[in-house]
Amino acid sequence: MSSKVKRRPRDITELPEVGPAIADKLSSAGFGTIEALAVALPQEVSSVTGLSLAASQRIISAAREALDLGFKTADELYERRLKVARITTGSKNLDKLLGGGVETQIITEFYGEYGSGKTQLCHQLCVNVQLPRDMGGLEGSAVYVDCEGTFRPERIVAMSRARGLDPSKTLKNIIVARAYNSDHQMLIVEQVKDFIQERNVKLLIVDSVTGFFRAEYPGRETLVLRQQKLNKHLHTLARIADTFEVAVVVTNQVMARPDAVFGDPTIAVGGHVLFHVPGARVFLRKLRGGRRVARLVDSPYLPESEAVFEVTEDGIRDPLGYE
Ligand code: GTP
Ligand code: MG
Repeated sequence: MSSKVKRRPRDITELPEVGPAIADKLSSAGFGTIEALAVALPQEVSSVTGLSLAASQRIISAAREALDLGFKTADELYERRLKVARITTGSKNLDKLLGGGVETQIITEFYGEYGSGKTQLCHQLCVNVQLPRDMGGLEGSAVYVDCEGTFRPERIVAMSRARGLDPSKTLKNIIVARAYNSDHQMLIVEQVKDFIQERNVKLLIVDSVTGFFRAEYPGRETLVLRQQKLNKHLHTLARIADTFEVAVVVTNQVMARPDAVFGDPTIAVGGHVLFHVPGARVFLRKLRGGRRVARLVDSPYLPESEAVFEVTEDGIRDPLGYE
């Protein structure tokens, strides 16, 4: 086929219809790479460049073609599955539950009530992603979108020391962005695309993904709007996970059901949010002491089961007697 002979565009200036002026506009708006353009919407490209929607769509299609997105045969999909990498959580039990750790290419949602360990897990993953591959890491850096102001560098220092890593280096490989409302949160995530490759980012965290949306769109009247915006955000995150082959981890605070003593405790008030996006949903709940139980919910290919882990000063661990 002739397309095989043509050299693939390597940066956006090699795409058709993208001259230097357009390239500049795209870059400063966060669409400076072929990957970012491939996952952009025609409306976004059009409003940034002033080009028509049709021209914007042609640019996006060319970017997708350059990346070889589109129809794939099953063996190609299988090959991509083989490229899935995993980040250890620090607990062997939890890793086993997740099929070896938190996966790249998809979103993992940790949901549970306050104090169930969601934020601690996020901190631990930011440290662990930096570990060598034979120790359960990806030798990469992390982006932490902090929507609740609960990111604590001191915890990173303690967890790094416990894993034998140099805390000053670990801290440098975690890029933290504090979000102040849902629009800001969405904008930050859009901007992450710009430096994901340059900074060797392998993990993107949004803690919590739902907090602002719940606060800004309270009540039944705004539920539809809230869900629409949240879905758009989750789709952006899913596309980032897929396109850049990174692990995306989101947290979601839910209330335990007051009447769940006999019923299924994973059906919490609020529930999980990853309805229409591929990913893993993990429900966390507190036991007495520092112990937590994780339950994998609705996994397409792993059995539904539970794992016990512990939050300690050193981070996430298997509790004694549960290793
Ligand atoms: P929300 O954000 O409020 O929904 O909660 P969360 O699920 O994010 O909870 P988080 O991860 O913040 O867990 C907080 C709990 O972790 C605390 O109540 C402690 O039990 C435990 N924890 C946090 N830091 C430490 C620490 O340094 N040492 C020990 N032993 N436990 C800690
Ligand atoms: Mg938290």
